[in-house]
Amino acid sequence: MAEQTTALKNDAACGTKPAPPCTLVIFGAGGDLTKRLLMPSLYNLAGAGLLPAGFSILGVDHNDGTDEGLRDTLTKTLEAFSKDPTSEFHADHIDPKSWGFIRERLHYLKGDFEKPETFAAIKAKVTGNAVFYCAVAARFFGTIVDGLGQAGLLKQEGDSFRRVVIEKPFGSDLASARELNARILKQGDESQFFRIDHFLGKETVQSIMAFRFANGLLEPVWRREYIDSIQITAAETVGVEERGGFYEPTGALRDMVPNHMFQLLCMVGMEPPNSFDAEAVRTEKAKLAEAVRPIPPEDAVRGQYAAGTSEGRDVPAYRDEPHVAKDSVTETYIALKLHIENWRWAGVPFYIRTGKRMTGRRTEIAVLFKPAPFKMFEETPTADLGPTVMRILIDPDHGVSTEFNVKVPGPQMKIGRVRSGFRYKDFFADTPNVGYETLLYDCMTGDATLFQRADNIEAGWAAVDPLLKGWPQADVTFYPAGSTGPKEADELLARDGRHWLGLDGETD
Ligand code: BG6
Repeated sequence: MAEQTTALKNDAACGTKPAPPCTLVIFGAGGDLTKRLLMPSLYNLAGAGLLPAGFSILGVDHNDGTDEGLRDTLTKTLEAFSKDPTSEFHADHIDPKSWGFIRERLHYLKGDFEKPETFAAIKAKVTGNAVFYCAVAARFFGTIVDGLGQAGLLKQEGDSFRRVVIEKPFGSDLASARELNARILKQGDESQFFRIDHFLGKETVQSIMAFRFANGLLEPVWRREYIDSIQITAAETVGVEERGGFYEPTGALRDMVPNHMFQLLCMVGMEPPNSFDAEAVRTEKAKLAEAVRPIPPEDAVRGQYAAGTSEGRDVPAYRDEPHVAKDSVTETYIALKLHIENWRWAGVPFYIRTGKRMTGRRTEIAVLFKPAPFKMFEETPTADLGPTVMRILIDPDHGVSTEFNVKVPGPQMKIGRVRSGFRYKDFFADTPNVGYETLLYDCMTGDATLFQRADNIEAGWAAVDPLLKGWPQADVTFYPAGSTGPKEADELLARDGRHWLGLDGETD
């Protein structure tokens, strides 16, 4: 079959021409995000010829340092990641031309994010277009934006742009997200703020729009009349490990649900936008998020992993991870049911689950269709008519798989379940991608489609607000590491006469 790719977004953002000249100022240049994801992504963008000659990077952090020091450190970490098969970036070798392009453009500035002198020093170095990337802990987001605004660094003169990328978590509840939005919007216009959610950097997530809206087959059945329920899963085998300091006050709900899981929810549930224009798409996503009925605590289950076995080795309980309290009640797993109150989805339950130290790694959206309207096959042997299930596979498999019923060959009318699937790798060349390439490029080209608008973020927090407020913190249940999660999560679905799909890609 001929391979064909079609532009999803407007021309500038199709990845065909270099971004306009600009300075990328990275707050948190010494941090993990910069090393693990931003540098490999910039390297890949350079390799694809998508960075302009007039591109430079100014790394800002609080430690002493020099341009050469930053260049050496980042060269070493990139080399180390390229050899580490578990890192997001593994390559046979580092291409000297692509890395040379980045390396020679790297500069360092020592600065305290809380001091005006830091922003004055940045101002002395930055002219024209600039993207300020907050690759720092969330408590610095507001401080950095204030510093930028007060130093006049967010003033856009002539045709030049000044944009700010803000990482997650954006707030820790509805009130703090609103406060942060109000605070940053005092320093600049909404169009200058790019709130990142790295799930939107995943090709497979972006492709949901194409899958839904470029196929006439799906639209008529993508609604309550034909769909029984939808399950959205992000199961991880990794534990919290070294991230206890961040995770203890955060937990699985804040870490994953109003942001990543809701982005998947919006992609699968939103109405078709009139175009792929950023505002058209973001408006539909915000409308969907706003239609989520606030989730009552009785529709959710919080779990925490106990000691167990993960991928063949013994692993400790969450409470025994570094920087975690011995009596912690932070959840490492959450399952919930939600409803979307609009014409398309009324009455269709959406079940969401995400957890660490689960039996398998699997991020997917499973759409379960209603059964055929009458039981023609009631009398047939093994008339085990499972529902038609369409799974959008996001990680680690990339593709779509559909399970349905067919006749088993032979003289009798016997029903069997089969699966048919599409995998990206079978049709398209594998392009190097750690997940931030499109997001960085889009920010430089000014395409906000894949970034979250203030209203979308706030709607996500509003939906989970009753859980954050009304949930007894002690109400956490335990599951062994390496399992499918707490049994209470199974009961949540059993209450509705349903069950979770397996985490191994099989329907059971
Ligand atoms: C991050 C969360 O935002 O997303 C992590 O903080 C989580 O806890 C990660 O592991 C999951 O992302 P991915 O791309 O590995 O599925």
